[in-house]
Amino acid sequence: MRHPEQKTLLAGEESAATPAIESAGGKSDGPAVILRGLHKSFDSQIVLDGIDLTVEDGETLAVLGRSGTGKSVLLKLIIGLQKPDSGSICIHGQEITLLHLDAMNEIRKKMGFLFQQAALYDSLTVEQNVAFPLKRHTKMTKSERGDRVKELLASVGMEGDLKKMPSDLSGGMQKRVGLARALALDPGILLLDEPTAGLDPITSGEIDELILKLQAEHDMASIVVTHDLHSAKTIADRLALLHEGKVQIEGSFKELEKSDNEFVAEFLKRDS
Ligand SMILES: Nc1ncnc2c1ncn2[C@@H]1O[C@H](COP(=O)(O)OP(=O)(O)OP(=O)(O)O)[C@@H](O)[C@H]1O
Ligand SMILES: [Mg+2]
Repeated sequence: MRHPEQKTLLAGEESAATPAIESAGGKSDGPAVILRGLHKSFDSQIVLDGIDLTVEDGETLAVLGRSGTGKSVLLKLIIGLQKPDSGSICIHGQEITLLHLDAMNEIRKKMGFLFQQAALYDSLTVEQNVAFPLKRHTKMTKSERGDRVKELLASVGMEGDLKKMPSDLSGGMQKRVGLARALALDPGILLLDEPTAGLDPITSGEIDELILKLQAEHDMASIVVTHDLHSAKTIADRLALLHEGKVQIEGSFKELEKSDNEFVAEFLKRDS
């Protein structure tokens, strides 16, 4: 879903369309994700140095940047696996940075997360991996879970591999199973960390198609971290380019192409 009012913003510019941030526990829904002034350092290393981003319901934002720019850290902050040093993270109107574990776990159920390395449980079968969040977070019976797992695996084209172990799967298959697991609780927000990294161009294209299909079926807000510009162009409504801890620019691919920002031009040239 594209939002015509969203324009290209260079770092430091204010968006006139920036919605107000709701206080913690606010009832109003608001955009799926609002990040304001996010800072994160590890010892003396500044990784994120004031990140502002908004993702609306039904919209897909691709976050691009060179290796080590903090893309995975950004997703981990949103899912609450790491805490920011300062700044605000609002999920559907709720500020999450100060939440305790129980409350954060509730919010996490609204979010599906595909880790950079797919992160399947090695000792569990494909079926058990996808059933895991259902077992943990729902009151489904075993047979209901079985049906749901089959449905999820069918949606990613893996229905024939229920009994396989993760080590018996190719990289692309592992990503598919990771996607099925991320979708298990029917999340409103999907966070994908490098869904096509390490895959050949044809398999990457298949994963992109799959992501587009799943987005259409589930109407989620998605944040896709990638350094695959082709993939970003295919699956995202908007792109945000991270560099030196900041969002250098955000907008549609066409808008980024028009930018006279030197770093942006260089990035697009190298990756196209
Ligand atoms: N828990 C941690 N402790 C210390 N440093 C960390 C930690 N997590 C991440 N970092 C550092 O933060 C920086 C950003 O890491 P991050 O994994 O977010 O990069 P990235 O943009 O995802 O890179 P890539 O494209 O290679 O996946 C790196 O220098 C990394 O070493
Ligand atoms: Mg990463």
